[in-house]
Order: sequence, then C-alpha cells, then structure tokens
Amino acid sequence: MGRPSWATRRRGHALTRCVGGGPPTDIPCRRERASAYFLDDRSGWERIRVMSRLRLGLIGCGNMGHSHMRRFEFLRHRMAVTGAADIAEAARAATKDLLPDAKVVADYEEILDDVDAVLIAIPHHLHHRVTLDCLRAGKHVLLEKPMANSERECLDIIEAADKAGRKLMVAYCMRFHPLVVRMKELIDEKAYGECFQVSIWTEQHTEGPPGHWYHSAEKLGGGQFFSHGCHYVDILLWYLGRPVRGTHFGTRLCTPWMEGEGTSNAIVQFEGGRLGYHFGTWGARGTRLRYSFHAHCERGMIEAVITDKRLFAHVGRTQELLFECDPGKHTENELAHFLDCIETGREPLTNGRAALQSLRVIWRLYEAEQKNGLADLRGLGLEQA
Ligand SMILES: NC(=O)c1ccc[n+]([C@@H]2O[C@H](COP(=O)([O-])OP(=O)(O)OC[C@H]3O[C@@H](n4cnc5c(N)ncnc54)[C@H](O)[C@@H]3O)[C@@H](O)[C@H]2O)c1
Repeated sequence: MGRPSWATRRRGHALTRCVGGGPPTDIPCRRERASAYFLDDRSGWERIRVMSRLRLGLIGCGNMGHSHMRRFEFLRHRMAVTGAADIAEAARAATKDLLPDAKVVADYEEILDDVDAVLIAIPHHLHHRVTLDCLRAGKHVLLEKPMANSERECLDIIEAADKAGRKLMVAYCMRFHPLVVRMKELIDEKAYGECFQVSIWTEQHTEGPPGHWYHSAEKLGGGQFFSHGCHYVDILLWYLGRPVRGTHFGTRLCTPWMEGEGTSNAIVQFEGGRLGYHFGTWGARGTRLRYSFHAHCERGMIEAVITDKRLFAHVGRTQELLFECDPGKHTENELAHFLDCIETGREPLTNGRAALQSLRVIWRLYEAEQKNGLADLRGLGLEQA
C-alpha cells in the first residue's frame, strides 16, 4: 500500500473528530498514532509504522464488502488490507481496482497466512464454517451481522473465539453511527427526561436477482426481521435495557421474492415499562420516514433522521437541530473499535455474547408468532454479555 496522499491524511484527521460520536476512550490513542505516522512518513519510521500496522483480510467482496472497502482509507494509518477473497470472479476483479496492493484470491484459506485479522462479509449460512476456520487459524474476526443462523452455530463461534484467545466482534455498524450514539447519550443523560418509547422505521426496497441468497429463508436464516431487523433489536436492547415480553408480526405480502417475511412489526416491552418498536420492510416502493429513530421522553422527542444525517429535538411545537454528521454507514468507526479491542485486549461492545442475546430475542419472537402467543423475553442471559 503506498503512502497516503495529503488529502487522505487530512481526511484521517477529520475522522479523528468524527469518531467523537463513538466510544470516547478511542480518541486519544487514534490521534496520537495518526500524527506519529504522518510526521515520520518520510523517514525510516514510516517502514516501522507500516510494518506494525495490523494486516486485515476481507472475505466476501460483494455489496457489504464494497461498502467496507470504500471506508478503509480512513484507517490506513492503523492497518493494511493485505488479502481479499471472493468466489466470484467479477467481485475479485472489482476488488483489485479498489485494493491494488492486496492479494486477491478465490479461496479464503489462501490469505490466512498473510493476515492478522479478517472481516467476513458473506452469506449468512456460511458464517459458521468460515468464522470457525479463521478463528482456528488464530485470526481475530470481525463478522458481519447476524452472527449465524442458529443458536448452536453462534455458541460454536463464541467457544472457538474463547479457545483461540482471539477477538470476535459482530459488525453492527449502526451501533457506531454518530447519530445513533448521540441519541443513546441523550437518553442515558435523561436530557429530555425519562424515555418511555423508542420507535425505529427502516423502509427500503430490497429485491435481488432471481435465485439470490437473500430470498432463501434457509440461507438468510429467516426473513427481513432476522437479516436486517437484528441491527435494530440490538439497538433497542442497548437503549432500553432488559426485555420482558414482546410480539412480532411478519408478512410476505408484496415481497413475493422472499421465502421469509419481507415486512415486519415488532413490539418489545422492557423492564420498567419502556417500549421499543421496529417497523422494517424490504418492500417499500415509496417512503417518507426511510431510516428514522424516534425516542419519546417526558419533556420532548429526540428524532434521528438517519437518511438526512441529522438529529433533532422536538419540544412542544418547537424543533431544534442538535447534531449533524457526515453521510455514509460509518463502518470506519466499528472497524476502529475492532482495532482498539485487538490492541488493548478490551472486549468489543458487540462481542459474540452480546450479539447472541439480540438473536435470542428474535428467535423467541418468531417462535411466539408461530404459536399465536406473546414471547417471554426474560432470562436470555443478557447480564453475561
Ligand atoms: N451492516 C450492514 O449495513 C449490512 C448491509 C448489507 C449486508 N450486510 C451483511 O454483509 C454480509 C454479506 O452481505 P452482502 O449484501 O454483501 O451479500 P452479497 O451477496 O452482495 O456478497 C456476498 C459475497 O460473498 C461471496 N462469497 C460467497 N461464498 C464465499 C466464500 N466461500 N468465500 C468467499 N466469498 C464468498 C459472494 O461471491 C459475494 O460476492 C451479510 O452478513 C449481510 O447481512 C450488512
């Protein structure tokens, strides 16, 4: 990987400010390291810095793999992408353009000797096997959500990470999105009083070509709620605490390409009486709310308009703009957190145990829906996460 341009270096510094929305302990470490690298990059120090950067491999260079690739440059002072693997030739060709210094191959086993950690972004039914292979080869793993398609597979992955003594983090990028992080801070600070309801809307049209793995309930692990709703169940638990009971209704109506539900409504009651709601659809042919979070509190409502990158407070009839952020999924923030955890030994916020708890909520909600009942969401082991 060549030296960063001055433009990239400036963006690197801008990132240091931007990730202020993420976990606060990350910031000094990153700023210090960035300036050390930039100041010394004409001397022999550059080679030492480059050599000490973590070597990352990307497994799966499709849609999400490319989203990650577009943000790697923000972290090039901390890591080098040395390998990439995808079974599809077209995906490999596009990857070579974006990662000209990486070894790009079809078989992920061929890059494992060249990397310290991997980022896995492949279809869900393959998460279990590929993640186990990487952990057993001694690699730290950042695994795209959802962790795996069954509780047994998730437990295997958690056990393998423990046994290997390597970091396992599930890539819930929304947890590191500046607007979502700021909303969490405002709820915790009770800036507008006690929060009593968080509602989340995610409205999009997601329809792959015929035969795409997204459509298969077996490969996806369920429907839209499992595949995409897992982000928002994770966030509701993060915002509101321990769930008590809940209900889910899904439908395939108007998303006939999906074997599982394409649209879902989930309501969860939390300890203390707080309520959480998620409406998600992959069948939207038009939308106004798109991606929006509303937190209703005693003295007002906090609104995160994710699509417009803005956070508002609504008090009575007044509306105040609280915060704006750059566009994008901000995957660089979750990747920075993964690197921090590898360097410091800290557990990732979205480690395997935390990720399993939110999947257990989804599985219990699905089960209750089948039985026409309410899901009992107590005792999912959240306190161990
Ligand atoms: N965090 C987010 O916002 C977000 C958004 C979309 C997808 N995702 C997640 O990313 C992951 C991938 O989804 P996607 O949308 O990129 O799917 P995709 O189909 O676009 O890409 C998957 C890629 O994996 C490759 N692949 C399949 N088997 C492989 C193997 N054995 N070795 C190497 N490569 C292999 C495919 O060829 C394909 O290029 C999933 O876990 C998904 O849930 C996350």
